[in-house]
Amino acid sequence: MEKVAIVTGATSGIGYETCLSLARDGFYTFATVRDVKKAEKILQIAKKENLKIEIIELDVDDEKSISTAIQKILSKKQQIDVLVNNAGWGLFGSVEDVPLKNFRAQFETNFFGIISIIQKVAPVMRKQKSGVIVNISSVAGRIGFPGSPAYISSKFALEGLSESLRYELGQFGVKVVIIEPGVIKTNFFSSMKIAEPKPDSPYKEITEKVIMGVKMMAELGTPPSEVATTILKAIKEKDPKPRYIVGNDAQMFLEAKRAKTDTEFENYLKKELFPS
Ligand SMILES: NC(=O)c1ccc[n+]([C@@H]2O[C@H](COP(=O)([O-])OP(=O)(O)OC[C@H]3O[C@@H](n4cnc5c(N)ncnc54)[C@H](OP(=O)(O)O)[C@@H]3O)[C@@H](O)[C@H]2O)c1
Repeated sequence: MEKVAIVTGATSGIGYETCLSLARDGFYTFATVRDVKKAEKILQIAKKENLKIEIIELDVDDEKSISTAIQKILSKKQQIDVLVNNAGWGLFGSVEDVPLKNFRAQFETNFFGIISIIQKVAPVMRKQKSGVIVNISSVAGRIGFPGSPAYISSKFALEGLSESLRYELGQFGVKVVIIEPGVIKTNFFSSMKIAEPKPDSPYKEITEKVIMGVKMMAELGTPPSEVATTILKAIKEKDPKPRYIVGNDAQMFLEAKRAKTDTEFENYLKKELFPS
């Protein structure tokens, strides 16, 4: 039977490439976007290559939009084999400079919206006794650094959620996978939001250094198609691992984290990020 996939945030970057990879592999793919006008490019490719990609409107920040989208999908296809929780964005600025409402907005998309989608899709997968939920975390979901605590903590939260969910759903034959990309060359860095530092903020310099650093790394970033390839590989494995790392940068940092004590790693990261 034809397999069915849902991907959030399909307008660009990792979500866009993942939709194409899944559809090229034969999945009937629901490419969800918050603004359907931005789906023209993917629709053109789908038409040209005769891919089964259907656009569904879904804003991860809007509970009603999520319910409507999942209901629409279930009225068309009675099964869901793969859910890729990809939609997300980055908020930069120190803990003291980011207003609490902006911290919450970051968590709304990168964390709470994902819970809401899972609450609607997991019962379907549980009844099927099959399915894979792929959560797009980040190397920033395992390593904290200054300048982006809202983004980092939203991804740390997603890691914890995914680990718990893996046990809860695993007993019903539903798999949960975390993807941890390093720096990927996408629109992420042009869409990221930067909190205005307070006039007397002592964090302006360190935040600017981090933003400049990640933007420079992004120029040489891993292509999003590599993340899509890893996602496809993970969902096709009989027993997928809990985590898949993508990119040499992510591999290097996470290997160092595994090999060192917390204090050793902190000193290592300070030297890597802020060489004197
Ligand atoms: N790029 C990296 O270096 C990197 C590294 C690690 C992890 N990640 C993660 O990878 C995921 C995809 O990011 P990307 O790099 O591919 O960036 P991207 O090209 O900016 O794509 C982000 C996607 O998320 C969508 N989105 C944002 N907020 C949304 C909302 N409320 N509802 C629905 N869709 C929403 C965007 O839609 P619009 O077009 O409408 O804005 C876009 O389709 C994110 O979760 C990000 O945290 C990225």
